[in-house]
Amino acid sequence: MPRPVIAVLNGPNLNLLGEREPAVYGSETLADVERRCRAHADGLGFDVDFRQSNHEGDLVTAAQECRHAVGIVVNAGAYTHTSIALRDALAMAQGPVVEVHLTNVHAREAFRHHSYLSELAAAVIVGCGPQGYEFAISAIATRVAAA
Ligand code: DQA
Repeated sequence: MPRPVIAVLNGPNLNLLGEREPAVYGSETLADVERRCRAHADGLGFDVDFRQSNHEGDLVTAAQECRHAVGIVVNAGAYTHTSIALRDALAMAQGPVVEVHLTNVHAREAFRHHSYLSELAAAVIVGCGPQGYEFAISAIATRVAAA
């Protein structure tokens, strides 16, 4: 029997994690984050559909394609602060959407304080680094179990 799928969507510049401003974003690569997500979800009985794109339209399409997932973890990178289109696509998600940011965006530049996604998110996790993705998967698993 196929296991339920949690989608994990990553936005621009997250493909260069590990190399990108390591003092801000740390040394783990996106492949490391993906391994973490798969291991954590596996322990909770879920499969993971893990994606990354630097392109807003591709993220919109990914959010549409993943709308039937039991939940969506999204780190939209800078599109968090700009993209109504991504927000509208995520609004079609049938399961909970959990917004993740590696950094504490509220302790950074003012333009990072507003998110177009938070209003529709079931939870928002900031400043926990890659572990935030695990927290987000746990939050979705808890909600799925309660549904
Ligand atoms: C980020 C925060 C965003 O403001 C930034 O544009 C990113 C990464 C984070 O994970 O902390 O690309 O989403």
